[in-house]
Amino acid sequence: MAERARVAILISGTGSNMAALIYAARAESCPYEITLVTGDNPDAPGLALAEAEGVAVTRLPKPTKDSRPAFFAQLEATLQAADVDVVALAGFMRILPADFVERWSGKLLNIHPSLLPRYRGLDTHARALEAGDPHGGCSVHLVTPEVDSGEVLGQVAVAILTGDTPDSLAARVRIAEHQLYPRILADYVSRPLDAGWIETRVDALARRLAEVTRKTSHGSPGWAVGPEKTAKLFAIIADHHHGEEAVGLLVKASGADEMTGLIEARPEHYYWPKYYGASGWLGLKLNRRDVDWDEVSDWLERSWRTAAPPRLTRLLRAADDF
Ligand code: GRF
Repeated sequence: MAERARVAILISGTGSNMAALIYAARAESCPYEITLVTGDNPDAPGLALAEAEGVAVTRLPKPTKDSRPAFFAQLEATLQAADVDVVALAGFMRILPADFVERWSGKLLNIHPSLLPRYRGLDTHARALEAGDPHGGCSVHLVTPEVDSGEVLGQVAVAILTGDTPDSLAARVRIAEHQLYPRILADYVSRPLDAGWIETRVDALARRLAEVTRKTSHGSPGWAVGPEKTAKLFAIIADHHHGEEAVGLLVKASGADEMTGLIEARPEHYYWPKYYGASGWLGLKLNRRDVDWDEVSDWLERSWRTAAPPRLTRLLRAADDF
């Protein structure tokens, strides 16, 4: 199995969602492990539970108004030291500073007890009851600087019963939360290693270039440039090709010297693909959790230039020389 994603959980209180994530990670097939639990309240009951379950806990001092920047600096250092891939907020009752959210962009998830975009913020169950909604529910979403507003990754609706109170509804929504969060987190951390997801991501970048069409190379999905009949391949997905470990993106480098230089300098990023390497295709390893997609985009453009007909590259060359 691929290496598990390293997840840190941030809590402020009970930590029942934290517990659900910890117990789900006990399954051998779970694609994440809980590397660390921490938060803004050193007395949070959830921390004691995590400790009892053998999960590493860091108790940070409760932030005051003045110590807020120091608290978030400490939190950042704690997450870095634990080499965390993804941070899961689970009842973390503090608004994160924008620069923190920015740094962890795409790696920060939260669970919220409503069917977003309805009822951002607090008192969600009371508001759903007051509005006469047929359902309450919960959402797992990506965290962006605006509170409870990032992309929703998954939801569960929970029926509202006659006579429900905010507490009785919250208790049933909590059951749904405990089902939803581990499942969505597992799906989310699996994405970067999935060949289909990688292909979709590459496709979005490749299509930003001119006259790009899809073409296969010996059955592997690829991208070509130029009129359909003469379209020339400039990128190919090699999904564990001939037993290789990588889901690779093959792009054209300038030749063997550049390729061996890059592979020696960064063997975790580049490789010499079987068969293709001999004709100048360099492999970029994309089934990693820390792919720099700007770099991939640059490689696609470079490779596209080597394959594009002169009428398409002429203008670009003029701009380069300028
Ligand atoms: C949950 O309702 C969650 O949706 C919200 O805070 C609560 C945390 O509860 N963000 P617990 O600490 O996980 O039990």
